[in-house]
Amino acid sequence: MEKFYTTTAIDYVNGAPHIGHAYEKILTDVLFRHFSKRADCAYMLTGTDEHGIKIQKTSASMNINPKEFCDMNAQKFIDSWKLLDINYSQFIRTTDEKHKKIVQKIFKKLLDKGDIYKHSYTGLYCSGCEAFLSEKDLDENGFCPVHKKKPEVVSEENYFFKLTKYKEAIIKHIKQNPDFIVPSFRANEVLNQLENIEDISVSRAKTNVSWGIDVLDDPTQVIYVWIDALSNYITAIGYDPDGSSDLFKKLWSADVQVIGKDILKFHSIYWIAILMALDLPLPKHILAHGWITIDEAKMSKSLGNVISPKSIMEAFNMTEPDALRYYMATAAPCGKDGNYSDNDFKEKVNAHLANSMGNLLNRTLSMLVKYFDGEIKQEFIKKSPLFDEALKTIKEVEHHFDYFEVAEAAQKITELVDKVNKYVTDAAPWSLAKEGKMIECGEVLYTVLELMCVISSLIYPYCPNIAGKMAKQLKYDINTKYDDIKLDNIKIGKLISKEEITPVFLRLDSELADKANKVK
Ligand code: ME8
Ligand code: MG
Repeated sequence: MEKFYTTTAIDYVNGAPHIGHAYEKILTDVLFRHFSKRADCAYMLTGTDEHGIKIQKTSASMNINPKEFCDMNAQKFIDSWKLLDINYSQFIRTTDEKHKKIVQKIFKKLLDKGDIYKHSYTGLYCSGCEAFLSEKDLDENGFCPVHKKKPEVVSEENYFFKLTKYKEAIIKHIKQNPDFIVPSFRANEVLNQLENIEDISVSRAKTNVSWGIDVLDDPTQVIYVWIDALSNYITAIGYDPDGSSDLFKKLWSADVQVIGKDILKFHSIYWIAILMALDLPLPKHILAHGWITIDEAKMSKSLGNVISPKSIMEAFNMTEPDALRYYMATAAPCGKDGNYSDNDFKEKVNAHLANSMGNLLNRTLSMLVKYFDGEIKQEFIKKSPLFDEALKTIKEVEHHFDYFEVAEAAQKITELVDKVNKYVTDAAPWSLAKEGKMIECGEVLYTVLELMCVISSLIYPYCPNIAGKMAKQLKYDINTKYDDIKLDNIKIGKLISKEEITPVFLRLDSELADKANKVK
């Protein structure tokens, strides 16, 4: 695989990031880190969406200039992703000068081409969606089904994008590429939405919305959020209608664009039409993930149950994000909704990361020190049938990742850990040592350590710090590409001393979990 380019949605900067935003960034980072073990070049883009009426109104109500307001809130996203070890290659803000300039050029190119035209329009506008809705979009009360608010009647002269021109081509693309929308069960939803599409407004009168990118040569209009926001995926890496950068030529099109199911329509219809209009190749996959609830309830400001990744890490006294990353990445099967609960979080990560995986390494290294002074002897090196299991697991994990099944892939890793644990229990190296069968005992320990190298490689995308600590104690190169894993990593000689053995993950404290529950 030559390159892997993945993107996340860019978050609105109205507030601070919550666990739903974090879910998406973790999911994408796990994909990114996995494919960085398979592709020559992997690239991940994330960022913030900073224009539009909501930002304009919120910042005005706080008496702050909108750019300062965006600076302040964008920083909260940057800080949170740092806390979660989101290893993105680039963070784009739609207020970046470079982005703004290219968006203006994109708009002009479409205008010159005749795909954007000026049109007088009266429509139903939902400020929550930042979109005009058609009657068909509304619920039985005439409300926006997402924001449960009556849309405003807005009359304006706007620029419109000829979405309908691309309708048939998009339908054809979705039908001919059943794996384009992931999971595939959402494709029908999109095909139904396509039945009713109309041309879309892509600008707003400056008298109504001032916080946006000006239309070139028409100071009365600003570019309306979706063309601005969606273009980030190409402006960030150097798309330019007058000649794109080498990075753009290398990376585009995206291999997978990760978004939430609520914005699938924008990505699988509007975005695709824009790319078609620009004569650019389409992304290979759009992954629409599900929704994260808190204790099975929808997160909302009014319910007061919005939680941030930072607050979880603080409540559990966590110094590293691995446990939260693991929990979120495995919270739901591909495309389905997931849930966060403090107790479930604590129990799952303690069971999987501490009791099963961490302890396995710790016990094995301790026995190696106890019985052999930390030394691997020539006689221990022997191929085990479990090596084939490990190679099979690598293939299975890769296969799940090919379908962006991040939680399903983790399940395969857990199963391998369970098999190794069972192997240790059955082989009982401590009994072998007691019986004086030292070579057999050493063979068992060697086998487990060799398997732990594979496990550290596979768990790395989810838990980079834990994997790093495992690899360090195993003297294994965590940067090994998956194709190069050979099960010949444990070398003859001294592997470790007693002082070098450290637990890779400390159990989350149950008292803290109870406290976290009470604080909520
Ligand atoms: O939609 N669970 O921004 P946004 C899971 N700026 N995912 C969630 C979630 C939850 N509870 N809440 C939000 C926007 N998300 C636009 C995107 S892209 C060119 C522009 C996800 O801040 C949501 O589905 O409302 C979306 O993918 C992302 O967080 C940003 O949402
Ligand atoms: Mg939203």
